[in-house]
Amino acid sequence: TQKMIDQAKAVMRKNDRGNYTVPTHGLYPFQWNWDSALSALGFAHFDEPRAWTEIETLFAHQWDDGMVPHIIFHQQDEGYFPGPDVWGTSRPVPTSGITQPAVAGFAVRRIFERATNKTLAVEKARALLPRIHAWHQWFFANRDPQGSGLVAIIHPWESGRDNSVDWDAAFERVPTDGVQPFTRRDTSHANPAHRPTDDQYKRYIWLVQKFRSLGWDNTKLHDASPFQIVDPGFNAILIRSCADLAVLADSLGDTEIAAQSRAMAEKGIAAMDSLWSEAHGQYLCYDRSISASVDSPSIGGILAAFAPIPKSRAKAIADRIDALSLSCNYLVPSHDPTAPEFDALRYWRGPIWLIVNYMISDGLKLAGETAMADRISADCLRLIEKAGFAEYYGPIGAEPCGGDAFTWTAAMVIEILS
Ligand code: DGY
Repeated sequence: TQKMIDQAKAVMRKNDRGNYTVPTHGLYPFQWNWDSALSALGFAHFDEPRAWTEIETLFAHQWDDGMVPHIIFHQQDEGYFPGPDVWGTSRPVPTSGITQPAVAGFAVRRIFERATNKTLAVEKARALLPRIHAWHQWFFANRDPQGSGLVAIIHPWESGRDNSVDWDAAFERVPTDGVQPFTRRDTSHANPAHRPTDDQYKRYIWLVQKFRSLGWDNTKLHDASPFQIVDPGFNAILIRSCADLAVLADSLGDTEIAAQSRAMAEKGIAAMDSLWSEAHGQYLCYDRSISASVDSPSIGGILAAFAPIPKSRAKAIADRIDALSLSCNYLVPSHDPTAPEFDALRYWRGPIWLIVNYMISDGLKLAGETAMADRISADCLRLIEKAGFAEYYGPIGAEPCGGDAFTWTAAMVIEILS
């Protein structure tokens, strides 16, 4: 156990750039939004000031409208595409123009409550509280213009689940005309068979060019995007962070942020039930641009257990995961292994991600589904023992996939073992 923790710490130190971490050398040479928030949880176990710095650095690059961008390009690096010149967001320190799962609210509450240095924790959490709240408000103002209680992503990269089967049908409606020729860099760092396809990359870039042509004005982007998906996993993270921020705000005596956060969480939880599929025993995505459910049994609808959903739903999700375990050797695959689109080693079309496992396990534990929660955590450790600190893993053969020496994978191991 101690040996594994020490190895995980070494991975985190290796990717530490002083006031932020890179997800891994080479493939992802900048700061990523949800990577940082989740990695801070790992730091918090052995270096609390460093954990706070990670999140502080992220929020130092928040936009004036409240958005927290998905990448911060702290330094130049030709090894990544698309770089700052493609995004063209005109920020003093360049950033991308889209966001990522809002996990910071959850992470900050957890780091705050566990902190041994309470004075530091109060100071840091007090400063972050209004910033995180502004981001949550930004989501509902800009990504839920009809006030449904659930937000849409407008680019697959926002979900973090870049090439999920969930987006396939919607992506058919994203054009590729007018996309400038480009050279991918990711495929020179990682096995191309583990990564999204060239066709998907063209569509990713078409969306970036479209949003750039609108001046990255978030009051326009949602309605102008041909890609608007309500992802249960993404919403669950936002809802959980709103609920956690409410508790944090109470601890810090900010009753207004507490009340507003609680209201957003409650509305979201109620709305989430419209995404439940009795046939699949899990939640499904909803394609807002065509007003239709997406019939795709991915991990997005299982990650929904991270939110404080009704206990009956959490139980059904635990049963669903148990059913998935009949067709793989490790939990939890990012797509149903019995579905025709399942691809064991290709990024989000089958492989296991430890951060997702951690969030599902945490939600199930809170809902009282402790047996499944523990089983998922145990599988995480079996994967590390077999394949090291990879970016993601094959759910049948435990193959290490994508980048290696991965920061958030290491952080999750420290979380599980500490
Ligand atoms: C990538 O470059 O693969 C990232 O997932 C985009 O954020």
